[in-house]
Amino acid sequence: MSSICVVGIQWGDEGKGKVIDMMSESSDLVVRYSGGNNAGHTVVVGGDKFVLHLLPSGILRPGTQNLIGGGVVVDPWELVKEIEGIRGLGIQVELGKNLFISWTAHLILPYHRMQDKVMEELRGHGKIGTTGRGIGPAYQDRASRIGLRFSDLADREVLAKRVDAALAFKNRFLQGLGKPRIDRDQLLQDLEEVGRFLLPGGVDAGAEIRRAAREKKEILFEGAQGMMLDVDLGTYPYVTSSSVGPSGIGAAGFPPRNVQRVVGVAKAYTTRVGEGPFPTELLDDLGERIRTQGREFGATTGRPRRCGWFDLVAVRYAVEVAGVDELCLTNLDVLSGLPKLQVAVSYEGKGRKYEVFPAGVPDLDHCEARYQELEGWEEDLTGVRTFEELPAAARAYVEFLEEGLGIPIPVLSVGPGRNQVIHRGAPSGKGSNARALGV
Ligand code: IMP
Repeated sequence: MSSICVVGIQWGDEGKGKVIDMMSESSDLVVRYSGGNNAGHTVVVGGDKFVLHLLPSGILRPGTQNLIGGGVVVDPWELVKEIEGIRGLGIQVELGKNLFISWTAHLILPYHRMQDKVMEELRGHGKIGTTGRGIGPAYQDRASRIGLRFSDLADREVLAKRVDAALAFKNRFLQGLGKPRIDRDQLLQDLEEVGRFLLPGGVDAGAEIRRAAREKKEILFEGAQGMMLDVDLGTYPYVTSSSVGPSGIGAAGFPPRNVQRVVGVAKAYTTRVGEGPFPTELLDDLGERIRTQGREFGATTGRPRRCGWFDLVAVRYAVEVAGVDELCLTNLDVLSGLPKLQVAVSYEGKGRKYEVFPAGVPDLDHCEARYQELEGWEEDLTGVRTFEELPAAARAYVEFLEEGLGIPIPVLSVGPGRNQVIHRGAPSGKGSNARALGV
């Protein structure tokens, strides 16, 4: 048995979709464990590009079971659209056969989306730049104990009771904002309809994952977003609302301590969508060049991503708090053609120097990155398949990051395609899904 967690260790969009897709080839079960349809996992298969928001990336592999876990917030209407969209591309998606949904997953309801937008307006200059998908308000209701769970769809009476309990709060809130009330009967009817579609996928997810582990199956926990967006450990309040790292797996009903390996995914540079501190941000032509070359536009919202140099201070912190064993470095090809590269090795602000990430926005706001300069390379890397074939400067860049992070980087990605990968050997961990990736 091998259970692996793949987690982003920057501010999201690190290329997890591709890494998970590679690893899922030999996984029996792929579990999405946090976030919602704010995520956008892009996978390129042959000439076709798939963007998955809620569906685990294993859905593209025939024979792999896929589970949406208890820590995920599910917009049921968006999930139906995604299932239908992906079926339209010829991919088999069968609820109860290769796709399961945890009974304890919370639902994103239409008023959550509305609330997300209203809250952003009210925040004014302090806005977070959310994806507008209702993620934060759904998690908020989970904590306030007025959320609806997927299991509520299975029983009409329970559903009506839960809807009434929620609307007692929601309609007051909406009234206060001068917005129209939610029509209870219409909502109930819509929920019943969407429930009829999705309910065959309902499952006691924790029991299924634990059983798979007992049966020595290969389990892959698919992270969404990135550690620096974690609600507790990230750059609060400019974060998402869930536990992004392996600790989030606990909500799926599987003990995080039983996860055998944590694979981190980072880009060879940094991107961020939405507001919040970004010490290595490039606001000049260089940033624009990376954005264009790396096609850095949000997979979910289409927003241009903010781009900057690799931040060793932030990534080292993320590696530590997520307990990352080894790293996949993606988009290395995007750096080709830059004569010099910079990597942030410390921050400075208010007369202080930080080599350890200062976990708190007030500190980070006045911090400037201090860099180590490295040589760039001219060569196109998209066709390179071995570490030895890489230009010396690219190898030195990877080795510098490895040294600075204190963990191996056994896999490099040099393009969006499934085959555009460089494997460097097998340092640790021996599950077969690990071997599929060559790590
Ligand atoms: P929310 O998750 O929609 O509430 O957005 C909160 C913050 O997380 C915003 O800055 C979003 O841009 C960011 N965010 C959420 N999901 C992703 C993602 O998958 N990639 C990158 N940023 C994300």
